[in-house]
Amino acid sequence: MLKAVLFDLDGVITDTAKFHFLAWRDLGAELGITVDEAFNEELKGVSRMDSLERILAFGGLADKYSTAEKEAFCTKKNDHYLELIQEMTPADILPGILPLLEELREVGLKAIVTSASKNAPGILELLQVKDYFDGIVDPASVAAGKPAPDIFLAGAALAGVQPAECIGVEDAASGVEAIKAAGITAVAIGDAEVLAQADRVLADTSALSLAVLRDAWEKATA
Ligand code: BG6
Ligand code: MG
Repeated sequence: MLKAVLFDLDGVITDTAKFHFLAWRDLGAELGITVDEAFNEELKGVSRMDSLERILAFGGLADKYSTAEKEAFCTKKNDHYLELIQEMTPADILPGILPLLEELREVGLKAIVTSASKNAPGILELLQVKDYFDGIVDPASVAAGKPAPDIFLAGAALAGVQPAECIGVEDAASGVEAIKAAGITAVAIGDAEVLAQADRVLADTSALSLAVLRDAWEKATA
């Protein structure tokens, strides 16, 4: 039986990708690296430090900076990102998410946040949806980031259920890979070609509902 839904945050609950992009683009410019929107796609779902490492490698500067310098770059990017997101309100919750959270609450299914973002708790506060969730996995508590399965396995454990009793909802290829590696049914939001590994792909969040999730889970686990 389906017992828990594990939610990615960025690109699923709200669209923060544009703010991550602007903050990385400006930091990249300071370092002489052009971060364009196409390259930014590869950063979706990827942790802050791993994103910086990818940007530096992309710019041919993989070995140039010390750990302390890289940490300072991450802090700078995040300070800028935090400035950009401060204006977020419940109006920034993506379509279909609130009705789905209401449905999950009504039937008693667990809802867990499994985001790579250390800013997830703060963003859920801004969106005023924190109370809908039974838990938020701390991404710092898992050994390996997406596409490793760790955060989704931790999400199932936090819900007190087996991975096979969960669905994971993701917008990034790295996230879908992580869900599948955890032995969890994957519902993806976005481009069907990019997210081909998912059990079900929906064009956008407005198509999400408990009925759709149950159908995807039943077909994937039959
Ligand atoms: C993911 C985003 O959800 O979180 C990535 O898709 C981001 O773009 C990652 O790098 C880490 O986020 P944060 O907020 O901890 O820097
Ligand atoms: Mg995402």
